Amino acid sequence: MKVTSAEFTTSATNPSQYPEGLIPEIAFAGKSNVGKSSLINTLINRKRLARTSAAPGKTRLINFFKINNQLFFVDLPGYGFAKVPLSVKKSWGPMVEKYLKERQNLRLVIVILDIRRDPSKEDFSLVHWLDYYGVNFLFVLTKTDKLSKNQIKTRLQKISKYFSEAGYDEIVLFSARTAYGKEEVWKKIAEAANIP
Ligand code: GTP
Ligand code: MG
Repeated sequence: MKVTSAEFTTSATNPSQYPEGLIPEIAFAGKSNVGKSSLINTLINRKRLARTSAAPGKTRLINFFKINNQLFFVDLPGYGFAKVPLSVKKSWGPMVEKYLKERQNLRLVIVILDIRRDPSKEDFSLVHWLDYYGVNFLFVLTKTDKLSKNQIKTRLQKISKYFSEAGYDEIVLFSARTAYGKEEVWKKIAEAANIP
């Protein structure tokens, strides 16, 4: 996919603030600090359009980025970050759930996992939840640059096993550092959003 334009459009906490219109949306979900914003930046060839940070909990609102005037990337706040104040935590879940459950424009959720870690309780509940509500999703295992080829193979097998038992088997390997897997992720996005 050739990206000719990518711009931040808006931040939202509730549906009245979502962009108007029927442009398809691709959302990026996963644990805090896993690399959601970095994945977005890599896909659109920009260093920091989506704000990234070594400290978890950077993204706290639902951020919409318009790509080529034909797609929105939706950067979701990460879950599982212990240091966020309870008041913020309590509003987070409902904010993200409402978006995922009710947003008509949503075509695909990219569920991002760190290839070095086993999926957490929260990862599993997200996936079961998406499945329950019939939301289309794809796994991306990121930070593959931190492992050797052999380690990647072992980790991929292990993580696939967790999810294949539940019937989920589409997994893409990725690295924001080397852009490995970028074209494959774009291919899945284009399919889901029905972009030629
Ligand atoms: P929150 O918004 O806090 O939920 O985090 P996030 O999921 O958006 O993560 P973010 O993209 O901010 O990345 C977190 C940290 O991981 C940053 O220091 C990134 O540079 C690093 N990182 C992200 N992806 C990769 C990757 O593929 N490889 C390596 N080596 N580091 C990565
Ligand atoms: Mg982020």
